[in-house]
Amino acid sequence: MAGDAAAKGMKLDRYASALRRVASGKVVSASSHLLFRATVLATLALVFLFTFHYPSLLSRSFSLSSSSASHPSHRSLLMSSSSSSSPAAATYGGAAWEKEIRRSARPTRDGGLAVLVTGAAGFVGTHCSLALRARGDGVLGIDNFNAYYTPSLKRARQARLAARGVAVLDADINDGELLRHLFDLVPFTHILHLAAQAGVRYAMEAPQTYVASNVAGLVSIFEVAAKHADPQPSIVWASSSSVYGLNKITPFSESHRTDQPASLYAATKKAGEAIAHAYNHIYGLSITGLRFFTVYGPMGRPDMAYFAFTNSIVSGEPITLFAGARRDFTYIDDVVKGCLGALDTAGRSTGDAKSGKKSGEAPLRVYNLGNTSPVPVTRMVGILEKLLGKKANKRVVAMPSNGDVPFTHANVSHAAQDFGYRPTTSLEVGLRHFVDWYVDYYKVKLDVPKISKVASGAGGGKPAAKKKKKKAAAAMVTSS
Ligand SMILES: NC(=O)c1ccc[n+]([C@@H]2O[C@H](COP(=O)([O-])OP(=O)(O)OC[C@H]3O[C@@H](n4cnc5c(N)ncnc54)[C@H](O)[C@@H]3O)[C@@H](O)[C@H]2O)c1
Ligand SMILES: *[C@@H]1O[C@H](CO)[C@@H](O)[C@H](O)[C@H]1NC(C)=O
Repeated sequence: MAGDAAAKGMKLDRYASALRRVASGKVVSASSHLLFRATVLATLALVFLFTFHYPSLLSRSFSLSSSSASHPSHRSLLMSSSSSSSPAAATYGGAAWEKEIRRSARPTRDGGLAVLVTGAAGFVGTHCSLALRARGDGVLGIDNFNAYYTPSLKRARQARLAARGVAVLDADINDGELLRHLFDLVPFTHILHLAAQAGVRYAMEAPQTYVASNVAGLVSIFEVAAKHADPQPSIVWASSSSVYGLNKITPFSESHRTDQPASLYAATKKAGEAIAHAYNHIYGLSITGLRFFTVYGPMGRPDMAYFAFTNSIVSGEPITLFAGARRDFTYIDDVVKGCLGALDTAGRSTGDAKSGKKSGEAPLRVYNLGNTSPVPVTRMVGILEKLLGKKANKRVVAMPSNGDVPFTHANVSHAAQDFGYRPTTSLEVGLRHFVDWYVDYYKVKLDVPKISKVASGAGGGKPAAKKKKKKAAAAMVTSS
């Protein structure tokens, strides 16, 4: 004890003297040392904070899917489980809840996979879950339905999944206790880990949510797979093209440097790749990281440019474009094929969960999943204008250095070689599918221009009529 205190005292002394040195400006290298130490300490403190305190802050409503009233049993499960919110409650909803979980996760074909899909009510998660289910794999989803973008869209996706027999638990991936319980119930063969805090610019507003979901949450998933699952599942997870950051060599190859992230989002994905390496090395977990390139399509993310631009064009609001920006837009169906290909070729985890024995045999892989043909964002807007029958009110500005990178372009030859990944959807075709869905989902009436009408109707009342129309369109977009 006394020695402990003395050591602490010495540490404090050293910090005090370091501070003095910095203050006097005599030793420059000391300040960078101190900064480095402070950064390491802050990172450790953050990880500690989230690992130990975050789960207790979470809503522990382990409700089952179905936002529709057509599943009263699920509704009542939701009630009962969220009311017994004490951490000691180990029932997680009881026998009916467990039965529903087993049913959802059970494959319906011989040799089918049993997949835990995190972020299942998300854009990519929903499409992957539907595809897995359609070919007879068992799927259980987890999603915390956070409000980064409108949860009503996540609930709508959940309803789509429920209609196909896929349950999505309303839970956070940082809830290790729940994860362990799920692995006690189901011998999952695979985890498709897609839950994350996405978005590049939002990281300036809510940096801690990126650490919570993309770093602490990833560790939570790897922990349960490494130590508490028997057999260990193989893991496929979503990294991001953003790890290439300021890399200037195109097309981006997996071997290119990824140590210059341009956003905190990118930094957490890069951290995830390093964490994956550690869990593969120590615990013999089979881990495949997929670097997605700007995924778009039906049921997509409202925070992404193609979706937000569609909202603005329909409602007549101006849009802001970054000059010179190009993106390797990748259609969702192509990405889904890549995800399933990665799951099917994942290879086994080789660690022994029971003895904690390690083995170096398990695969550690990383693949680009892009479209291999970057398109200027201005052209993307041009395609939307054509599909929507309406001109955008464009404002072009220089790209700010707050997270976005000027271009992305994937080299996908590794994914092609290892699981036959071949993107086949052009941006024109993919955006048509998106707009078809958008129009249906938001009940938008497209305003296809009629030249003769416009010409004959030219008069004093025209601007007012135009304004009225604009308002109506905006209302249509926001309702639903
Ligand atoms: N869409 C893209 O263009 C793109 C590009 C690169 C990488 N990615 C990555 O792909 C994955 C899927 O992306 P998406 O476009 O479907 O995003 P999304 O936001 O639609 O899906 C992520 C889902 O995870 C859930 N989630 C977030 N944090 C959670 C937590 N702590 N616990 C439980 N659930 C949580 C969210 O509610 C959301 O439904 C993410 O990891 C994302 O970072 C996407
Ligand atoms: C893509 O990557 C492969 C494998 O690393 C490489 O052989 C090929 O030359 C790359 N293609 C281009 C156009 O850079």
